[in-house]
Amino acid sequence: MKIAVIGSTMMDIVSYTDEMPKAGETRKVTNFHIASGGKGANQAVAAAKLGGDVVFLTAIGDDMFGQQSLANFKRHNLDTSLVTVPEHSSNGIASIIVDNSGQNRILINPGANELLAPEHIEAAADTLKKCGLIILQLEVPLPTVYAAIEFAKKHNIKVLLNPAPATKDLSLEMACKCDYFMPNETELSILTGKPTNTMEEIKVAAKELLDKGIENVIVTMGHRGSLLMNKQEEVLVPTLKVKSVDSTGAGDSFIGCFAESLVRTGKVRESMERASKYAALGVTRAGTQEAYATTAEFEAFLETL
Ligand code: RIB
Repeated sequence: MKIAVIGSTMMDIVSYTDEMPKAGETRKVTNFHIASGGKGANQAVAAAKLGGDVVFLTAIGDDMFGQQSLANFKRHNLDTSLVTVPEHSSNGIASIIVDNSGQNRILINPGANELLAPEHIEAAADTLKKCGLIILQLEVPLPTVYAAIEFAKKHNIKVLLNPAPATKDLSLEMACKCDYFMPNETELSILTGKPTNTMEEIKVAAKELLDKGIENVIVTMGHRGSLLMNKQEEVLVPTLKVKSVDSTGAGDSFIGCFAESLVRTGKVRESMERASKYAALGVTRAGTQEAYATTAEFEAFLETL
């Protein structure tokens, strides 16, 4: 069954450093690269690298980075029939700093992503109706995200919402219509206004979302693994212990892998276990999409465990 990812495209401008610069400080990088990113694109590419049949609805810039983004989608076998290029727009840009513990700080300049509108969802109806799952994030305007959720519900298509970057403006009423709600612990804290430092705090915050009517909350928690909570069960899926080189886009690789596996097998817990290992492998390499393993690489890695 086809997967639709509706979301952002960015060009990531990434600087690696021993330490995050303090206010007023200038530091030299230890490494630097420019590569394709954006939460939507990362999730779409991860699912496609694992063999998923993925259509990507996104807005790219009417510029050099936009052209590079489109070439990148084609290289990864995404269905690009729903890619739109608003006239005179600039591609989204993410400025990223990664320190030597693999942690990142990200600033985004959305560019064309802000021009992805509810009309684009309607215009894509024929293709979207053929999909078994729609994946959304919050790097495109909220009305577009809401239009996609309403569309999915009207046509009985499952929806996975990754509320990233988190915003308090997100309507919980809309979030409740999604089948899978997948924040990381920081996003969970922003969305609920509750602390999420300990596992107990994370469970309390996730429970609040369940009480408000969200069906399945899956919290991605980096080295602590991932947590599924719904009315029937509470499942903690541990992750592998690895040396993190770059955690940028780890949540995206988890979601891409989870989605591909879920659509293929229909099994939530097994898909989380697989996604957990996939994301762990990804953080041992620098970058996002280029760090994500293909099926062959991933299967070889699984053999070594
Ligand atoms: O989730 C990681 C992504 O967030 C990066 O690729 C960057 O583009 C930002 O959108």
